[in-house]
Amino acid sequence: MESKFKRTTVTSALPYANGPVHIGHLAGVYVPADIYVRYLRAKHEDVIFIGGSDEHGVPITIRAKKEGCTPQDVVDRYHKLIKESFDEFGISFDIYSRTTSKVHEETASDFFRKLYDKGEFVEKTSEQYYDEEAGQFLADRYIVGECPHCHNPRAYGDQCEACGTSLSPTELINPHSAISGSKPVMRETRHWYLPLDRHEAWLRKWILEEHKEWRPNVYGQCKSWLDMGLQPRAVSRDLDWGIPVPVEGADGKVLYVWFDAPIGYISNTKELLPDTWEKWWKDPETRLIHFIGKDNIVFHCIVFPAMLKAEGSYILPDNVPANEFLNLEGDKISTTRNWAIWLHEYLRDFPGKQDVLRYVLTANAPETKDNDFTWRDFQARNNNELVAVFGNFVNRALVLTKKYFDGHVPPLGMLTAAEDEVMAELAAVKGNVERLLDVFKFRDAQKEAMALARAGNKYLADTEPWKLAKTEMGRVATILNVSLQLVANLAIVFGPFLPFSAEKLRKMLNCDVKDWERLGETGLLPEGHLLGEPELLFEKIDDAVIEAQVQKLQDTKKANEAADRKANPIKEDAPFDDFQRFDIRVGTVLECTKVPKADKLLQFKIDDGISTRTIVSGIAKHYNPEELVGKQVCFVANFPARKLKGIESQGMILSAEDLDGSLSVITPMRQVRPGSEVK
Ligand code: MF3
Ligand code: ZN
Repeated sequence: MESKFKRTTVTSALPYANGPVHIGHLAGVYVPADIYVRYLRAKHEDVIFIGGSDEHGVPITIRAKKEGCTPQDVVDRYHKLIKESFDEFGISFDIYSRTTSKVHEETASDFFRKLYDKGEFVEKTSEQYYDEEAGQFLADRYIVGECPHCHNPRAYGDQCEACGTSLSPTELINPHSAISGSKPVMRETRHWYLPLDRHEAWLRKWILEEHKEWRPNVYGQCKSWLDMGLQPRAVSRDLDWGIPVPVEGADGKVLYVWFDAPIGYISNTKELLPDTWEKWWKDPETRLIHFIGKDNIVFHCIVFPAMLKAEGSYILPDNVPANEFLNLEGDKISTTRNWAIWLHEYLRDFPGKQDVLRYVLTANAPETKDNDFTWRDFQARNNNELVAVFGNFVNRALVLTKKYFDGHVPPLGMLTAAEDEVMAELAAVKGNVERLLDVFKFRDAQKEAMALARAGNKYLADTEPWKLAKTEMGRVATILNVSLQLVANLAIVFGPFLPFSAEKLRKMLNCDVKDWERLGETGLLPEGHLLGEPELLFEKIDDAVIEAQVQKLQDTKKANEAADRKANPIKEDAPFDDFQRFDIRVGTVLECTKVPKADKLLQFKIDDGISTRTIVSGIAKHYNPEELVGKQVCFVANFPARKLKGIESQGMILSAEDLDGSLSVITPMRQVRPGSEVK
């Protein structure tokens, strides 16, 4: 099928320059984007790969304050570190710039101004919390107080994580600033809003009808946002770090980081191609692809497209292949808890093994659901797949050729069934990999590439040329010729996935095959061609090396737990009478369902021994409703009823909160009669 596109603009999310990058970033965004771009380049398609650092936003200012330096210092430090890490991993950006660049400030500022002049914003004045001590308005996340619903004392201005209710800062009881700890006051402030509600109709049609091919996780998230109804979104903030709002009387106001950051893709293209950038963003024959993580979906599928549409002269993304999250050894990656494998540390601990990590992250890519990285799996994939299959095959083919034919490609003789089998694999690989890469299924595509290495390895194991050397040299020549052609094909097919190893293969073969079009050919290396020196493509990783990494994580976990215990000490003494006032009972769960439009709430029907009562509980993130049906739970039975998302909740289900914040429902050790009292 001829594509209607002439060229492709590939962007990958601009990481915040307030910390180093870790394997989650690589797996979720940068490795898949890089594979895709290298694939298009190997096909000689017109493509640019745009990256850069996202250097504005509140967290950067907080970090600077904490460290006693300027935000500029923070972003300078991390921009450099992040850029180096990407370089080392072979993420082949055509440009990696930053949102503090001159070009970007101008571009973002002009973009805002154009929308402003066209009347694409609405202006609103509202009252917001202001921290007089810190001298700044407070973003919702930076206001902490007591939850009006469950009385958790550490609820945030946007949400209570204990009961799952979304809040606005004004609902908090006894709010205080997370920055200075002081009590904030209300102040009037004026902001510009992008009225997404005005864009809802075309967005619905464009996504829900015209982009049904988007990944189900992406499509589903968009649908649920659209079904909830879009609201105007503020695109400015009261902050002293960012791009000034280019409007009269907007002193002390900057563009909201999520307004300026995606424009960074455009600015960086401009910086790369000052004269021709427009065709990469405005020509309908250009295909725009955004690689991102799932937390960025709404910004790239709804907000940024609305901005582009409002501006009027830009194309919209053709696809947004967002990944789910990668966990680490069973726990969510957390930068603040140092629960991560940092790229700069990996490079120090595993020098020269960039492709191993690329391979493992792609083999385990969180394309359809969250996935887990474990060091054991990393070791197994290296030792059992890269070393034992791919590396072993290549090494045998090259070493035997050196041994029997002085490193020259031997002549091809009569073919047998063994050759037919492996040639059939070879003939299929190009189509198989393309079909998958074209729809962003990187994990399966890499599996297909690996299938070719597997077929080669099996071919050598079956034909055992080392046993034929004395008697049937003609046969040995054929087997090695075929094997070497397979190796040359591996250099092509793995080029996008494992660029360092592909390079090494080309050196060993003394042959610069890269063209994707030639994948599948059986004569890539002419008879008599002199090979380079064989080297090991991959090496085994020992248990001790893996154990050291596992130990390092265990140490981190212990340190975190100790810190958590300190942060969550036993409360002061309380009289027994106070305890007795609470009526805690056991109930049996009769029904359990998700509460629509509330991602944290579950609605229960509970048999409490006397009647059936409804309880709403903020544990949807921790359980599937089906797992709870039929189980016995403990609940407070004499709280006054309260409404959550319009549902009257008659009690509170008790859970234990683990140190990582996960919740586990309390259940009696033996089955008891519903209504039994807990005392
Ligand atoms: N910095 C954001 C994050 O890490 C991503 C920004 S993507 C862009 O979540 F579109 F805004 F550039
Ligand atoms: Zn709460």
